[in-house]
Amino acid sequence: MFICDNIGEKGGHLTFAGRDVTLLAKKYGTPLYLMDENKIRENCRIYKNAFKKYFGENALPLFASKAASFKRLYEIMTEEKMGTDVVSAGEIYTAVKAGFDLKNAYFHSNNKTDFDIEFAISNGIGYFVADNIEELSAIDREAGKKGIKQNVLLRITPGIDPHTFEAISTGKVDSKFGSAIETGQALEITKQALGMENIKLCGFHCHIGSQIFETEPFFKAGLVMLDFIADIKAKLGFEAEQLNLGGGYGVRYTESDPVFDIEKSIGELAKAMKEKAAALKINMPKILMEPGRSIVGNAGMTLYTAGTVKIIPGFKSYVSIDGGMPDNPRYALYKSDYTVYNASKTDKEVGFECSVVGRCCESGDIIQENVNLVKPERGDIIAVLTTGAYNYSMASNYNRIGKPPVVMLDGEKDYIAVKGETLEDIVRNDI
Ligand code: LLP
Repeated sequence: MFICDNIGEKGGHLTFAGRDVTLLAKKYGTPLYLMDENKIRENCRIYKNAFKKYFGENALPLFASKAASFKRLYEIMTEEKMGTDVVSAGEIYTAVKAGFDLKNAYFHSNNKTDFDIEFAISNGIGYFVADNIEELSAIDREAGKKGIKQNVLLRITPGIDPHTFEAISTGKVDSKFGSAIETGQALEITKQALGMENIKLCGFHCHIGSQIFETEPFFKAGLVMLDFIADIKAKLGFEAEQLNLGGGYGVRYTESDPVFDIEKSIGELAKAMKEKAAALKINMPKILMEPGRSIVGNAGMTLYTAGTVKIIPGFKSYVSIDGGMPDNPRYALYKSDYTVYNASKTDKEVGFECSVVGRCCESGDIIQENVNLVKPERGDIIAVLTTGAYNYSMASNYNRIGKPPVVMLDGEKDYIAVKGETLEDIVRNDI
């Protein structure tokens, strides 16, 4: 059994989206990012349909661009009628270049520069999600200069610990993000926003963390936010039109990750929130969520070619591949789990315990430790699964290694969505 239904095997080779990955490796070279376009669309539709069914026509899922941002993805998001969450001028520019309508774009980050703010307003960004009072004032100033009233949500810290990795947990009171309810800062920023001439306060946002497989933390956050909305209504007479619950649903990296039913979780969440809103005598706001990982994670796979296979008798074995931390820094950063296959020999027995390591000059350049592979030979294709989120978007040019191309798979078709970087690209900005 494979961890996702777009993975399979045929004739001793691994398949992805129905395609023999060794042939794709031959055609495009390695390292290679593959993206399964139909899986991306299927994931978008899970959210779209569940939102419509449980939260109503008005509710909107936003794709969190930070998980993966390149022009083709924004075209797909337009076609799937998704909104988007952007966090930088670079993501906004990419969306604009792809013809994405920014009226459904929400601009995040905990420290937008004056340039970012000016750039976003000039491009007609739909909403800012303001992190703190200082930033809100800067947005107010810039909107004033442009003679507009800018739509804004306020990022609130609900004080929820989602029990995920510390580095990707964001909803606790001491987080660098947002204004905490607990400290009174959330009330304060709301007061200020309502008093600002060039700000139209539309509602609130929270994001508790990432790679979460339980409904409960979302439940808690949703209910805390409704309490907050009711409290604000009572104290300030302002009733939020929108509530953005952030991203965070998990994806399966390995067999030990549970199969998680997003539709069911959204249904349960909606039921609890509607009951709560009724009890608090407030209108249910328009609900937004910002999935990133669960839209593109299982739509991605990375292919490498095995080079050196090194056995250190009595110690351990290494399989070195032709990529590594520059195209996937997640093990180096978070010790993230991945499933790895020898894609050239799926019909042979596994049994070669090894670490799959990259080719950078540092010991921490590891893709995965303690994996059990069909023993690779130099030239075999090594596949790392579930790399669609936070791989290409977090890639670097460490050791002056060019980023691999992104190839999209769509039925029998395959096409390049992002070209691989050449040596010329590597020196392009050197003077
Ligand atoms: N909304 C906000 C405000 C966020 O900060 C994030 C992720 C999302 C939405 C999307 O969350 P998702 O649905 O993808 O879990 N680089 C880390 C993940 C960092 C997540 C940052 N924020 C990783 O590779 O695991």
